[in-house]
Amino acid sequence: MKEKILAEFKKLFGDYGDIRCYFAPGRVNLIGEHTDYNGGHVFPCALTIGTYAVVRKRDDRKLRFYSMNFENLGILESSLDDLKPEDTAGWTNYPKGILWAFHKRGMTIPNGMDMLLFGNIPNGSGLSSSASVEVVTGAMLRDLFGFDVSNQDLALIGQFSENKFNGVNCGIMDQFAIAMGRAGHAIFLDTSNLSFEYAPVSLENAKLVISCSNKKRGLGDSKYNERRSECETALAELQTKLSIQSLGDLTEEEFEANKDLIKDETRIRRARHAVTENQRTIKAVKALKANDITLFGNLMNASHISLRDDYEVTGIELDTLVEEAWKIDGVIGSRMTGAGFGGCTVSLVKTDAVDTFIEQVGTAYKNKIGYGADFYVVEIGNGPERI
Ligand code: GLA
Repeated sequence: MKEKILAEFKKLFGDYGDIRCYFAPGRVNLIGEHTDYNGGHVFPCALTIGTYAVVRKRDDRKLRFYSMNFENLGILESSLDDLKPEDTAGWTNYPKGILWAFHKRGMTIPNGMDMLLFGNIPNGSGLSSSASVEVVTGAMLRDLFGFDVSNQDLALIGQFSENKFNGVNCGIMDQFAIAMGRAGHAIFLDTSNLSFEYAPVSLENAKLVISCSNKKRGLGDSKYNERRSECETALAELQTKLSIQSLGDLTEEEFEANKDLIKDETRIRRARHAVTENQRTIKAVKALKANDITLFGNLMNASHISLRDDYEVTGIELDTLVEEAWKIDGVIGSRMTGAGFGGCTVSLVKTDAVDTFIEQVGTAYKNKIGYGADFYVVEIGNGPERI
């Protein structure tokens, strides 16, 4: 891959000077969905697919961007003196947001740069292609200019820029999973205080299969921000009696005993998802540690049902993928992953059932939805690196 992107960079921007290459992964969340902005737990892992970046400093303040995923847009020019979001060149708002966020944190970037990106994560699929671009840009700036920032800082800078520059009110999960990724491990993160633990995911005779619905979504135009504010309102209603900081502070029992404080049926369901999903995530990590993969899979299934019925972020595409997966022998668990409203599902599938899974789910999906899904058997990879 490195040869391919380097050759493309040299062709477009010229073959001279100090040219450097970086990689940051995408992520998949195994369980703990829509809990990260509710002070709950998440359990994501980094993938071996992600975003590659090639870069060279310039002597002036110009920024020239090119994405091999959006070749038709050509080279997009901007300047360090003009860091504001633009409609026309959607994707460059992610690297530009990171440059802007470094400035905001007092890390002044002295030189412009030429930058080429290539991602092998399907765009807009819920595997965090945008957070991957954010983290690879941060890792690149750290290395190019010698800034003293930790990987955890890279995650926080990524979230800050996505919130404030790109206008998406996302939580910390995606950037954290990507910046802190470790091969063979998922990250059990408590989003209320960012304490975390790496849990080995050693699947004997099973694989992680991602099914991509090919229904595109963008967080900005989805109902993501609406769900977030529904939860905030429900929390405020609960706080009229309870001294809690977030929905993640509640057990299922405490929630059931107090849910009548929430004055709207829909908001009760939203909050119930946030509470039960957090508890499921804690239980799932315990199950994994005890090598109880069956229980882990059952909790994944329960997570999907809660996201479908209480949180209402699935839709016919994701429901079809999951419900077809559940019919297949050898599927240990299956659920939507990421924000929802399109994007991907993640399934734990016995190795000898993977081919049947792809064939049967693929056919049933196409028959029902009218277009095909894509399937990826994935491995858990490391965080960002210079390559
Ligand atoms: C998106 C957001 C994350 C998280 C998930 C849902 O991926 O970026 O912060 O909220 O949705 O779990």
